[in-house]
Amino acid sequence: MPGFLILNGPNLNLLGTRQPEVYGRTTLADIETMCRAHGERIGVSVEFEQSNHEGALIDAIHGARGRLDGLILNAGAYTHTSVALMDAISSAEIPAIELHLSNVHAREEFRHVSYIARVAVGVICGFGARGYTLAMDALQSHLEGRS
Ligand code: DQA
Repeated sequence: MPGFLILNGPNLNLLGTRQPEVYGRTTLADIETMCRAHGERIGVSVEFEQSNHEGALIDAIHGARGRLDGLILNAGAYTHTSVALMDAISSAEIPAIELHLSNVHAREEFRHVSYIARVAVGVICGFGARGYTLAMDALQSHLEGRS
């Protein structure tokens, strides 16, 4: 069974109460439950993590190297700043999908820049919490050579 790491960056631990008009009312725990249930449906095992620390996110990506089959990363604000996370994804040599709850392209200009997109298979943004299961389907299709 393929294994995915679903990794969440800074401030995403506050989902549900953080700017609900932008990010919705679904908590990260709700999203984890959704992802685990979806993993069972589509035959994918799920590791789900969150950290507010760039180095811990990098360690988690290194930990997936040679062990897991795909990465779904909502790097939060590090998306727009972190060359180190970009390099970690390149070094891990596993396909990655960049994910955002909000449509970052409809927001401030600094959110239009992504270091992650340069090394990702694709980007999903603007679909709220549902983006996580969309990303799982997209990654599975990619691994099966369907996209
Ligand atoms: C986010 C978008 C980022 O710009 C922001 O810094 C976040 C959340 C999203 O999921 O929409 O923390 O990644």
